[in-house]
Amino acid sequence: MNLTIIGTGYVGLISGVCFAEFGYQTVCVDKDQNRIDELNQSKCPFYEPGIEDLLNKHLNKTKLLSFSNSVAQSVENADIIFITVGTPSKRIEGEADLSFVWDVAKEISENIKKYCLIVTKSTVPVGTTKQVKKIILENINENSFDVVSNPEFLREGSAVNDFMRPDRVVIGCENQNSENIMRELYRPLNLNETPIISTSIESSEIIKYASNSFLATKISFINQVSDLCEKVGANIQDVAKGMGIDKRIGSKFLHAGPGYGGSCFPKDVKAFINTANNHNVDLSILSAVDKFNDGRVDKIADKIMSKAKLRTGETASILGLSFKPNTDDIRDSTSIKIAKILNQKGIKVKSYDPEAMSNAKKENPFLVLCDDAYIACEESKVIIIGTEWNEFRALDLKKIINNKNNLCIFDLRNIYNPKELKQLGFDYFGTGT
Ligand code: UDX
Repeated sequence: MNLTIIGTGYVGLISGVCFAEFGYQTVCVDKDQNRIDELNQSKCPFYEPGIEDLLNKHLNKTKLLSFSNSVAQSVENADIIFITVGTPSKRIEGEADLSFVWDVAKEISENIKKYCLIVTKSTVPVGTTKQVKKIILENINENSFDVVSNPEFLREGSAVNDFMRPDRVVIGCENQNSENIMRELYRPLNLNETPIISTSIESSEIIKYASNSFLATKISFINQVSDLCEKVGANIQDVAKGMGIDKRIGSKFLHAGPGYGGSCFPKDVKAFINTANNHNVDLSILSAVDKFNDGRVDKIADKIMSKAKLRTGETASILGLSFKPNTDDIRDSTSIKIAKILNQKGIKVKSYDPEAMSNAKKENPFLVLCDDAYIACEESKVIIIGTEWNEFRALDLKKIINNKNNLCIFDLRNIYNPKELKQLGFDYFGTGT
């Protein structure tokens, strides 16, 4: 099978490389020539464990993978074309901006030469895949193609593994022929007995938004309960454990923290609310989730300022700048948001992150970036654990406290044992403890 993937962002590139690993001849297309040049030198534009090895293997050894800047040339021989271009939030009301999807659909319709499937893999609001079909029908006849929705559930930091061992694959098709081709595409996953869920196109589009929104709801819920725990002397980790053991609830995504960030949850929750509003449907539960999450960083910054009695001109250190570990992605990173608020209050912010510092520096020149966590913590009144990178779990904290009095540590991700830190002399503040 010949595959063409249009858009070499996160979803497109991971999918392309992993489909090549399945053994398919795959072309990844992007109009950004610089990006194509870098990819042709096996350089991945973002940090993701495992991706560069696979990229190198299939670009240079198996030659199953290639890159191009031309949609026209790359779609001619394709059996399946995936649309994986960006769908950013529009400024107004979080609606997804689909202009890249429409442009690509038009270009595909002007260039395909034989029957193929056109698959939306970017996260797109319900109705988008059928709209893609309408655009393509303006140029070619309906027997020459089928559209499919096949959303991706990749998590940054573990995307290769998520692609190779997914909990499920969702395919939204209009007819048996397209379903058969999609099932054939994912046949390599039969070995792991991966469930393939076949639905209508609309259901498939909704599954993606409903899944991300549900996980975001779990996070806002546990964060609100963690605020209550702080007031009444309960411990959120014990509470989450006690809840999560109930199989109906499940223990995943019950980690209290500074709120969800990243390129998906904030954007997808807002877009899903927008879709519900457009159809006059009450999804107010999600509006509450979104509002609470947006306001959480301000409350955390206030808590840090007041508990640590921070004054203008003093220094705070933030360990971890990416929105989660094992990625250099800082989109909607709660660490960066907290750093910005502290900076606006006149606090000097020092920081260290294993992978995200160059991305962070570009947009936040006020950050004082350091070569390691220990240097970042020197001369600080407050240490904030913003992201739970493994290397922050095993810090030599004696070296950091080094006879200082009242050094405050705000462990936003609850990675340390409060008792041990208090014994070492820290003023320890966890989340929901
Ligand atoms: C998410 C979805 O998990 C994935 O299926 C989808 O395709 C893309 O969006 P990702 O954004 O990479 O993936 O990261 P994820 O691990 O889901 O974390 C999202 C955010 O939630 C992070 O900011 C994380 O710190 C936060 N989070 C997660 C919590 O605060 N508590 C938790 O218990 C879990």
